[in-house]
Amino acid sequence: MNTKLDWLEVKLRNMQSIKEYSPKYSPETVAKQLGIDVTEIIRLDKNENLFLSKQFFSKIIKELAEELDPRFYPQKEKSTLIQNLVKYLDLPSESIILGNGSDELIETIVRVFLGSNSTAISITPTFIMYRIIVNNHGNTIIDTFLNDDFSLNVASLLSKASHKTRLCFICSPNNPTGNQFKIESVKEVLKKFRGIVIIDEAYVEYAPYSVGKLIKEYENLIVLRTFSKAFGLAGLRIGYCLTHPNLASALKKIQLPFNINKFSLQLAIKLLDKRNIVKTSVNKLKTERERFYNKLCEIPGVKAFASNTNFLLFTTEKDVDIIYNTLMRHGILIRNIGNILHFGRCLRVTVGLPKMNNKFLNIMKELCCS
Ligand SMILES: Cc1ncc(COP(=O)(O)O)c(C=O)c1O
Repeated sequence: MNTKLDWLEVKLRNMQSIKEYSPKYSPETVAKQLGIDVTEIIRLDKNENLFLSKQFFSKIIKELAEELDPRFYPQKEKSTLIQNLVKYLDLPSESIILGNGSDELIETIVRVFLGSNSTAISITPTFIMYRIIVNNHGNTIIDTFLNDDFSLNVASLLSKASHKTRLCFICSPNNPTGNQFKIESVKEVLKKFRGIVIIDEAYVEYAPYSVGKLIKEYENLIVLRTFSKAFGLAGLRIGYCLTHPNLASALKKIQLPFNINKFSLQLAIKLLDKRNIVKTSVNKLKTERERFYNKLCEIPGVKAFASNTNFLLFTTEKDVDIIYNTLMRHGILIRNIGNILHFGRCLRVTVGLPKMNNKFLNIMKELCCS
């Protein structure tokens, strides 16, 4: 490389150590390998929402196609969506910030609040993006193991945090364990941790309670929410966070002005107007989750864990690689999670529609009974 660009060579070399999020396979590659159409692949690997139908979205999208003028930048759509969220959540607009998916908000929080030479803390196992984002900013993330029953070990978490620990990420309900932590444990962390506590509620619509209202009581709380799960907009990227207005205004300052496109914003506005339909689909998922969990537990050698989310975590006495690969050969994608505490290697499966889950269960039965 040109010697004038020595700095760039060093930069590019340093960039090689950065870990990027890269899924192992895509539905398209699996479909190609199997010689089938991608629409035939049963996607139970990313906790997407299959309970709101494609037809439901097609209808709204058609309406939007008439209304939307893409020549203009988004203007009032962000504030309209925030006003709709104010009604939905009964929280003030100054406490709500929108992001291009909650991933973007995690990144913004890290950028604003995690200075150089400071650390973040989180639980293990949990959602991988906290680690990726914190590490990619050149900071360290400290791990604290959950208890064997997947509950929060508050004493261990607090003892591992140092005066340099500025952020604490707690995913509740937790991905991949599926459980929601006790509100008393969350409050204890909020009271005793000397930094900002981020409670990621990506799956909260499937769970018994939300800590959203606690932002009125705790100035160090940020609650992350998303339209990707219960609202079925994973592909359109809208997340939001709830926090004290002081933290909210700091976060807003560094956001790019047009970070979310007009189409996604308008679709989210329409979806909030139809939140009864969303609620009905959440209830249907919960009923199916119960049935799916019970059926999975009946399979010899399988241990499934109760869930407050739209997925189930399970272990099996059979080789997990065989299970994972056999399902993939049948066009069913699930997630190979790896070791979880003392349970050994675990798998995670999204709660799909009954027909999909039955196909999954039949293959599992065949594998585990042979
Ligand atoms: C716990 C958790 N938080 C956040 C996200 C990402 O949400 P978004 O699509 O809003 O970026 C996921 C996605 O699976 C998740 O599991």
